[in-house]
Amino acid sequence: QAAAKAVRQDLYAQLQDISRFYQTQLRQSQAAISYLKGRGLSGEVVKRFNIGYVPEQWDGVKRKFATHAEAESQLIEGGMLLKSDNGRVYDRFRDRIMFPIHDRRGRVIGFGGRVLGDGTPKYLNSPETPVFHKGRELYGLYEVRQAHRNPERILIVEGYMDVVALAQFGIDYAVASLGTATTVEHLQLLFRTTREVICCYDGDRAGREAAWRALENALPLLQDGRSLKFVFLPDGEDPDTLVRKLGCDAFTQQLDNAQNFGDFLFERLAQDTMGGDAGQHELANKAAEAIIRVPEGFTREGLITQLSRQLNWGENERRVRDLFNRLQPG
Ligand code: GTP
Ligand code: MN
Ligand code: MN
Ligand code: MN
Ligand code: MN
Repeated sequence: QAAAKAVRQDLYAQLQDISRFYQTQLRQSQAAISYLKGRGLSGEVVKRFNIGYVPEQWDGVKRKFATHAEAESQLIEGGMLLKSDNGRVYDRFRDRIMFPIHDRRGRVIGFGGRVLGDGTPKYLNSPETPVFHKGRELYGLYEVRQAHRNPERILIVEGYMDVVALAQFGIDYAVASLGTATTVEHLQLLFRTTREVICCYDGDRAGREAAWRALENALPLLQDGRSLKFVFLPDGEDPDTLVRKLGCDAFTQQLDNAQNFGDFLFERLAQDTMGGDAGQHELANKAAEAIIRVPEGFTREGLITQLSRQLNWGENERRVRDLFNRLQPG
């Protein structure tokens, strides 16, 4: 146990050193610097997020950091080195822009690496390791907390570049999930830091589906005083491209006008159900199944009222209450 802990401490230290190494390499690479300039990033924000670069070589990290057998196996476990079937050990990340991922305490726990051009995969992330759990970590959360002790709201976006671009434009309260869907754990983590979470995913089909999944995951967490809202971007835009077009004020205005939880819930359910009496009943049932997962309180009561209005059962909320009583366990 104590030995495992010592190994982890060592891995943190190694990852920190590697992050510095990547930042040094960035300063020495004209290609990487012009890529970042081409994406419109300022030197200041690149520094703030400790963005780096790893050149095209098979053994950059290996030669510098795997100086003895123990260090090597630790770097394999930490996701920085790979071992082929014939036993050859080599760098996982090559010729990529490197985004270090920090935990809440600011320790480097992994990296996301982007190709400079159109290669695939576009992003390569650290694998799950003893210190890095994708479902539990959010890119940028440490940086948000550095900027704000008690942020009024936090944005969840899809990508590294979105977080960094938004910060450059003064919207320094965005985080990204790491190539996975937004999990219950992510939302729990965010609601420990703020009262309002706004999902702001890409304006494409995947982004809209991700928003719906976030809504479903959030239901049991919506105790009074918490809110989850949604911003839907125009087709083909992501927060990075849009904040560059709109600027900070107009983008912030979109956040101020974010769609609230109930409106998105009912809009989406209505889309998925047919008209007529059968459709109304289907809508009522689906909505009730969702609402019943919300903890008791004003938020849930508000959703019930909204449902009865949506169904045009408005005058007679009793029908909706009856529906709930039937669903209520016990
Ligand atoms: P840019 O093209 O650099 O602006 O990135 P983006 O963040 O806009 O990319 P995209 O919208 O395509 O994807 C959103 C996020 O999904 C990325 O930031 C990554 O975290 C993840 N992602 C995208 N492509 C890949 C991939 O090829 N592999 C993995 N593992 N994750 C990816
Ligand atoms: Mn701020
Ligand atoms: Mn996308
Ligand atoms: Mn993008
Ligand atoms: Mn995108």
